Amino acid sequence: MDALRVYIPKYTTKEAIKVHFDLVFVGFGTVGRGLADLLIEKRSLLEKAYGIKWRVVAISDLKLGSIIDDNGINLAEALRLADSGRNLESLPAKRKGLSALEVIKESSANTIIEVTWTNIVDGEPGYTHVKTALSLGKNVVTTNKGPIALYYRELMDLAKEKGVHLRFKGTVLSGTPAFNLFDGPLSGCSVQSIRGILNGTTNFILTEMEKGADYASALKEAQRLGYAEADPTMDVEGMDAAAKVAILANALLGADIKPGDVKRRGISSITPQDIQNAARRGERIKLIGRAEMNGGKILAEVLPTSLPTSDPLANIMGVTNAITFKTDCLGDVTVVGPGAGRRATGYALLTDLISIARSK
Ligand code: HSE
Repeated sequence: MDALRVYIPKYTTKEAIKVHFDLVFVGFGTVGRGLADLLIEKRSLLEKAYGIKWRVVAISDLKLGSIIDDNGINLAEALRLADSGRNLESLPAKRKGLSALEVIKESSANTIIEVTWTNIVDGEPGYTHVKTALSLGKNVVTTNKGPIALYYRELMDLAKEKGVHLRFKGTVLSGTPAFNLFDGPLSGCSVQSIRGILNGTTNFILTEMEKGADYASALKEAQRLGYAEADPTMDVEGMDAAAKVAILANALLGADIKPGDVKRRGISSITPQDIQNAARRGERIKLIGRAEMNGGKILAEVLPTSLPTSDPLANIMGVTNAITFKTDCLGDVTVVGPGAGRRATGYALLTDLISIARSK
């Protein structure tokens, strides 16, 4: 990538903030490796434009093993091993074989990248990882929807009490700007309501069904392409979207809800007939997540909704995600972009690290 083509903020000066991230990867699957790719690729840009230096002092992964070295781990070599499915413990390191929790407690890291699997029933093991790291005064960046959707307030309060940062951009729309807009380009603008296509798998299935595919084969294709959750019921029954609605409502509308408080219906009962009937009316069926604060009460729902094709959300096809924010200063603002994928979600973690550096 040509770093010169990257927009470098004008307010970055030679005296730019200097932040040294000593990182731990808790989980080194697709998303963690997406961040690792970008850290290596953008090392020089991060230093020149944002004053960020980084090294990785530990990696812990259930399948790939666990290594700690306070002098730094060779991340390119770790990536090479992980991408070929080989154990990381063949790399030189001071300590090996520790559990994720031991690594969080015993490494010298100041920032934890928590990218273990999503569990929106009790948030584990991510919840314990995030809570432990924050309690020890370490920043956390995560794409893990479970702990954030279930324990947003508790974890944010803990981060505040400890004077560290908890960032979770990648939980909604992966690296596509979403709630982080309101800390940056849309600062000072208030959100009145949120409507969005928050799940790529279901939007892909609905798109394929409109082209004539049947529900089961469209779902199978979404799984083959790697969009769907390990348990695709999470996607098709709207649980994944409900977790994202809860995160958006809590982060942007001052709500205090859990995914279970979101009224929800998925797309498993949508038939090709429903889709054709909508098309005859000049409409499209989309799985829409919605949150709105009304007289101090939160309305939060995920429902298949028939939208007129004049609605920007009706024209979001395939695995793409989108959110329309209704704001006080700009009216409707719609963002459209990827909601999953190695590079897109890795980038969410990178924006979180840059955002921490900038806030220092
Ligand atoms: N299964 C999710 C989706 C992945 O399809 O959108 C991203 O959260």
